[in-house]
Amino acid sequence: QSAKMWSGRFREPLDYDFEQWQRSFPFDWRLLPQEVAASRAHARTIAAAGILTPDELDKMLRGLEAVGQRTDAWAHRISATSGQPEYTSSTQQIGAAIVASAPQAEDIHHYVELELTREVGSLALKLHTGRSRNEQIATDMRLFVRDAIDQTLSDLRDWRTALISLAELAGDAVMPSYTHLQRAEPVLVAHWLLAYVSMLERDSSRFSDARVRMNFCPLGSGAVAGATLALDRSIAAEALEFTAPTPNSMDATSDRDFMLDFAQAASTLGLHISRFAEELTLYATAEFGFVDLPEAYSTGSSAMPQKKNPDLTELARGKSARLLGAATALATLIKGLPLAYNKDLQEGQEQIFDVADTLSGVLRVLPGFTSSLKFRFDKMQTAAETGYLNAMAAATYLSNKGVPFRKAHEIIGNAVRLGLDKGLELNALPLSDLQQLSEHFSEDFFAAISLRATLDCHDVTGGTATSRVKQALQEAKLRVLNM
Ligand code: ARG
Repeated sequence: QSAKMWSGRFREPLDYDFEQWQRSFPFDWRLLPQEVAASRAHARTIAAAGILTPDELDKMLRGLEAVGQRTDAWAHRISATSGQPEYTSSTQQIGAAIVASAPQAEDIHHYVELELTREVGSLALKLHTGRSRNEQIATDMRLFVRDAIDQTLSDLRDWRTALISLAELAGDAVMPSYTHLQRAEPVLVAHWLLAYVSMLERDSSRFSDARVRMNFCPLGSGAVAGATLALDRSIAAEALEFTAPTPNSMDATSDRDFMLDFAQAASTLGLHISRFAEELTLYATAEFGFVDLPEAYSTGSSAMPQKKNPDLTELARGKSARLLGAATALATLIKGLPLAYNKDLQEGQEQIFDVADTLSGVLRVLPGFTSSLKFRFDKMQTAAETGYLNAMAAATYLSNKGVPFRKAHEIIGNAVRLGLDKGLELNALPLSDLQQLSEHFSEDFFAAISLRATLDCHDVTGGTATSRVKQALQEAKLRVLNM
């Protein structure tokens, strides 16, 4: 067997630098489980078409399974020589070892073929009957993205669970809400936290949608025009738990929309993560003082002994740039590519690996971080009680007395002005002062602008009234935790 998969028509050897540069094995070795699964599915398909005898199929499947265990074997070997526990060998270490072990492998497809030859001899050469690397890489990447989506969905559930528990712990604690980063109206802390649960639910639905859309099997599409054998494509589709075979071979071998969908959903999630991270970074400042950063998730300064820095939230905010970058790179890669397969597409793989690693990394720390947040409810409440956050409720009081809202707005504006001049909140202004502004003020005004009343007047679906938030929390628990 020649070292290359395609050397028959070539007389000259490849330029060494070009050969090394175009290889994808240094990064696509990560597709080993997917390549093995897809190859096993293809073996079943060609066996059904009479290309392999039942014995050969059996031998092939066992050989492929053994090849699939190469990464475990390397993890084992690395830990034996380094003395560190097996699970600590990093993806990079395993990758470096496996790539060094097969310098002649051009890509993961070539690697599996070479290793399968070591397992089952020349029978391995039959595996490529009726297939092309173009359909293989399209299939491997779909399988990879599908797993990454499942992982993300489960990680997102963990983070939402942490947010919901925190909202429950917050009870009826209050905080200011902001618009333009200026104090606006009081809200329940739980209401604020549930805002993130809503964002994450949309994120989950984006990932789930993408999963449904991508779950079709390219195997049998051949290089571009379809397999050259009358294969029953449903065999592989079923074996790999796809909904059905893809309907068009040209599209199937050149489509990378599923990668784009995943990266775009990831970058939207990244934006939400960065908004959360930004708020926590702000709220942990002495200027806000709403939250004590958990020490387990903070770092110190090598220079300034007093510091406790919010590295987790800063890094989480920074990771969103990578996700957005990957989505942009993929869109740019696909734009203007003629049908069907082009080698440019190889460039998309590392973006996807990076998206998957970035997401699983940040989502591994966020739930624990979220659960260990300690809010300073006293400071949040003080902030919610100062700065005229009840002005809208006050205007509503007047409009309930029959004053047109525009007029009520004007009167309360004057009251705020008066308060600012006297250094008093609305509820500290003498009733006689207020009555000079409007005859509609009476003693019941002060109850109407209390903190509780200010919250509870937002008694609409999605509003921050205590009873509404309680209900929203129950509904979120039902949706996310099924309880
Ligand atoms: N490593 C290649 C990729 O990622 C696999 C497909 C190669 N196909 C080809 N016709 N050269 O795109």
